[in-house]
Amino acid sequence: MIKIEPTGESLGATISNVDMANLDQSAFDEIHAAWLEHLVLRFRGQTLDDTSLAAFSRRFGKLDNAPIGRGGDYPIPDRPEITIISNIIEDGKAIGGLGNSEAVWHSDMTYVDMPPKASLLYGMEIPNTGGDTWFCNMYRVYEDLPEAMKTRIAGLRCKHDSTRTSSGSLRTGFAEQYSPEEQPGEDHPLIVRHPETSRQALYLGRRRNAYIVGMSAADSDVLLDEIWDHANASPHSWAQKWAVGDLVLWDNRCTMHRRDGFDDAERRLMHRTQVQGDIRPAT
Ligand code: SIN
Repeated sequence: MIKIEPTGESLGATISNVDMANLDQSAFDEIHAAWLEHLVLRFRGQTLDDTSLAAFSRRFGKLDNAPIGRGGDYPIPDRPEITIISNIIEDGKAIGGLGNSEAVWHSDMTYVDMPPKASLLYGMEIPNTGGDTWFCNMYRVYEDLPEAMKTRIAGLRCKHDSTRTSSGSLRTGFAEQYSPEEQPGEDHPLIVRHPETSRQALYLGRRRNAYIVGMSAADSDVLLDEIWDHANASPHSWAQKWAVGDLVLWDNRCTMHRRDGFDDAERRLMHRTQVQGDIRPAT
């Protein structure tokens, strides 16, 4: 019997009694339903190699490949679906992305036309303090907006910047600055309807360089600041405090996440997969 224990917060549940290597369809369906209900699932005490992490992830859909590194290859060449998130340096080179710094609130890759639907993060080495990953329930953030704001932003679209990572570094090949109209990235509705639950959620991506299409840059900034102040102050978040062997799965269509920084003298190592989206975000 799969055990589902909600965190008691606005999102998140811990799942136990799951044999990931031998998951039949009805057990998977139960996990899938729990994921849609709780938005973030945590499986504790897992022992996963990259093949089993990829196999479990693939139950949710086709996987994206990891970004190609500066050396011209995937981080794990025979497992292209695995991205490494780490601050570890080996032979003078970072083995993974994001380092030890704080990562700001964001949803993954919303700057493409069909952003990923899910991400899975598996904790392999964990610092003693810091490095918690926070998740925010964007259905609840939307529902809490004042009615006047819901009416005001209905029908508006927001440009999602593709030039910077969630820790603020500039991606290769992009300039430091663009005009709002020329900012590289896709635009999506500010309010989206989840394709599986039909619930409405606020769809923000990330704040930096965001731009509301058709507005002056100044008016766009004023409105976005107001919406982000509301999201930042939301009580609908929950922090995942990592233990080795935790696997965390989140729904990228109705959550944002952020990460606390941690001491660079400590090691943090995560393997990550990303499930492709199959539909453009729509109201
Ligand atoms: C991420 O933003 O995907 C990484 C989160 C983390 O390192 O906890």
